[in-house]
Amino acid sequence: MVKKVAVLTSGGDAPGMNAAVRAVVRTGLAHGLEMYAVYDGYKGLYEGKIERMYRKSVAEKLNRGGTFIGTARLPEFVHPEIRQVCVENLQEYGIDALVTIGGDGTYRGAYELEKMGVFTVGIPGTIDNDVAGTDYTIGFDTALTTIVEAIDKLRDTSSSHRRCSIVEVMGRHCGALAIWAGIAVGAEVVICEETGYDEAKVIQTIQDAARVKKHAIVIVSENFIDIKHLEKVLNDFTPFEARTTILGYVQRGGCPSPRDRVLASMMGAKAVECLVNNISGVCMCSVNEKIVAIPFEEALKMKKNQVEEKYKVFEELW
Ligand code: F6P
Repeated sequence: MVKKVAVLTSGGDAPGMNAAVRAVVRTGLAHGLEMYAVYDGYKGLYEGKIERMYRKSVAEKLNRGGTFIGTARLPEFVHPEIRQVCVENLQEYGIDALVTIGGDGTYRGAYELEKMGVFTVGIPGTIDNDVAGTDYTIGFDTALTTIVEAIDKLRDTSSSHRRCSIVEVMGRHCGALAIWAGIAVGAEVVICEETGYDEAKVIQTIQDAARVKKHAIVIVSENFIDIKHLEKVLNDFTPFEARTTILGYVQRGGCPSPRDRVLASMMGAKAVECLVNNISGVCMCSVNEKIVAIPFEEALKMKKNQVEEKYKVFEELW
């Protein structure tokens, strides 16, 4: 029977992580559990940065962006001796279960801890929407809203100057943010791993746009093509002046959207309910608007978010 539960956030922060931490802590307290936070992800776990959490500790956090318990990336977590120290630090506080909020790297870490005897539950928190098994990750909706608002603003200036805006968005190796934003703003072109890059086709599309429109928008997912090269090509071979905007970390900030707050609260509550019912080694997944628990092992093998259908619609709408 689980009695003491800790929660941590790991990897890139995402809007809604605070709402998830709050839900974990408050649900745990409602079930009579002793609750703890680990500061700064697995790095903080290794360093023993653990603190007791009370109802008040998570007050006024629901609507705040970022993660108030901090986050970090710890590549060294792959080493068993590092994980052993983490397990011992949990044991020192008598903590028997850990809720980890983050992306699939965070899940892999949690799965390893599970194998070492710590009860673990994962919650998907990343703006990228690239965690297998779940339709949505916490933070995706807010980041998408931020991107769409930014591109709407770019449209004003690019159409005034007859320009083509090239906008780089985040996503690591997942094109979900790029494709969803592409549909939402009516972009001319989206370029990401899932769409591939056909330079001649991109030029042709922007030339066609120039015949009927005062501006064009090209959304490019990070880590895929040389964006400066694309800018030069569009300057050289289309009537538009091309200008690049890299949205960067702005996309990760801001108050979480209502949808992200609800998703985070539902997943946080369900994570603790799993532990209370002696279910561990699972991650929370939103499947057709229901929160379900899928074993890490299964989820890590599943195919990530499918965006092909969305891209098909994007192309049909242009
Ligand atoms: O995983 C979230 C994310 O924001 C990615 O979109 C991006 O590639 C990465 O994190 C950036 O990571 P860092 O904060 O380590 O620069």
